[in-house]
Amino acid sequence: MKKFYVTTPLYYVNDKPHIGHAYTTVAADVIARYQRLKGREVYFLTGTDEHGSKIERSAKKAGIEVGKFVEKIAKEFKSTWDLLDISYDDYIRTTESRHQKGVEAFFEKVKKDLYEDEYQGMYCEGCERFLVEKELENGLCPDHKKPPQKLCEKNYFFNLQKYLPRLKKLIESDEILVLPKQCKQEILGLFKQKLPDFSVSREKVKWGIKFPYAKNQVVYVWVEALQNYITAPGFGRDEKKFSSIWPADIHFMAKDILKFHAIFWPAMLLSANLHLPKTIFAHGFFTIDGQKMSKTLGNIIDPKELVEKYGVDATRYLLLSQFPFGQDGDIKKEGFVIRYNADLANELGNLVSRVVVMAKKFNISNIKAPSKNLNLIDKELGNFDIYGALRRVTSAVKKANKTVDTEKPWQLAKSDPRKLETVIKKLYRELYYIAYNLEPFMPSTAKKIQENLKSLDSKAIFPRITK
Ligand code: MSP
Repeated sequence: MKKFYVTTPLYYVNDKPHIGHAYTTVAADVIARYQRLKGREVYFLTGTDEHGSKIERSAKKAGIEVGKFVEKIAKEFKSTWDLLDISYDDYIRTTESRHQKGVEAFFEKVKKDLYEDEYQGMYCEGCERFLVEKELENGLCPDHKKPPQKLCEKNYFFNLQKYLPRLKKLIESDEILVLPKQCKQEILGLFKQKLPDFSVSREKVKWGIKFPYAKNQVVYVWVEALQNYITAPGFGRDEKKFSSIWPADIHFMAKDILKFHAIFWPAMLLSANLHLPKTIFAHGFFTIDGQKMSKTLGNIIDPKELVEKYGVDATRYLLLSQFPFGQDGDIKKEGFVIRYNADLANELGNLVSRVVVMAKKFNISNIKAPSKNLNLIDKELGNFDIYGALRRVTSAVKKANKTVDTEKPWQLAKSDPRKLETVIKKLYRELYYIAYNLEPFMPSTAKKIQENLKSLDSKAIFPRITK
């Protein structure tokens, strides 16, 4: 069976998950579920990034010992993904020993490309990276609106220059496919500017993996975090398993961290002489009511809150149906209830209940389920167009509701019972088809629809919500 390896970023455990993290994770889950339905052996990896000064500081602020702190937040992430029905096959925490062992083994392979140097620069703890002057806006990090710290350290560096020409060709030729197209252009644009070597160790940070060649230093958090994509499937530990899973078929993330994935990560893999990820997909960044989600603005939305109000599948739907996957967009909190009622209660839920009620009322039973196919979403999901695929399903729902409105089965019951049977059977087949194609997005709903169709029991699947 052909394998398919899909990843999400490893989320920082400085705070509990919000719907930005959920967006990427649910999208990756849709692709994982879809590939399983297509018969691939899927390895879906997610996890948490638990080292670095940002996390150390957050633990201090919370007054909790850092090990306990990361444990607590990692649990929050895991339980949120379990709640959202994320079908991950593995969950890696960068504080696990399997990760640490893999990181040590990886450094042995790239050691030849490391050198020691003195570094002076401006470090943004929020980003966990060095910024250059021209990235700053009024002296502040544009993402975190804070001045970066001036740092001067003796660090180990990775000889990125050595790999840039090869890397550029690999991206240009789509051997590493960077999607969407504008992201590929953006990355290729970076090769025209200076891309300095990057440091792989940190002298002043304590909370991290010991750097193998200077025990007073730790591995730079980004460098080890990226390695999770190989340490989880067995690098440095279980070569057989590792080579059956790696390379990744797709790495998902938002565009904020594309450079790390499309430049630094493949360069390190080239140095280690390992296969390269096939696709790197950076989706857009969303704002809430026009603003970045932040604690200070108090506009952070916890996915658990949405699940409480709308249920698991509706939350998955509400996140993915906001705007095209790959573009930026704005989310309005009040928009959720409107969309829920419009698309789920009035369209999908209503369709299921009216078709099942009519089949029961007019005594049309034993309608055979058609064979499974995913024609409705194949083209879009094959291109990671998650939003487009979802639109295809919602259009099919709308069309079926229109069929009910125009055919008026309740009139046919009196005037043309044979046609009535044909219409109801057609709607039944259509609903099965909709359920099959909804499965990657809304797995429980897909099941419920089929159960309702089979049992002629019209349980409301999406009750209207009034506020
Ligand atoms: N720890 C690093 C990633 C290491 S991967 C080896 C990191 N973590 S993070 O917690 O900051 O997560 C960033 C990712 O969360 C984004 O790339 C994106 O996938 C998701 N998102 C966080 N906020 C988001 C939005 N507002 N909009 C869309 N995605 C968002 O970076």
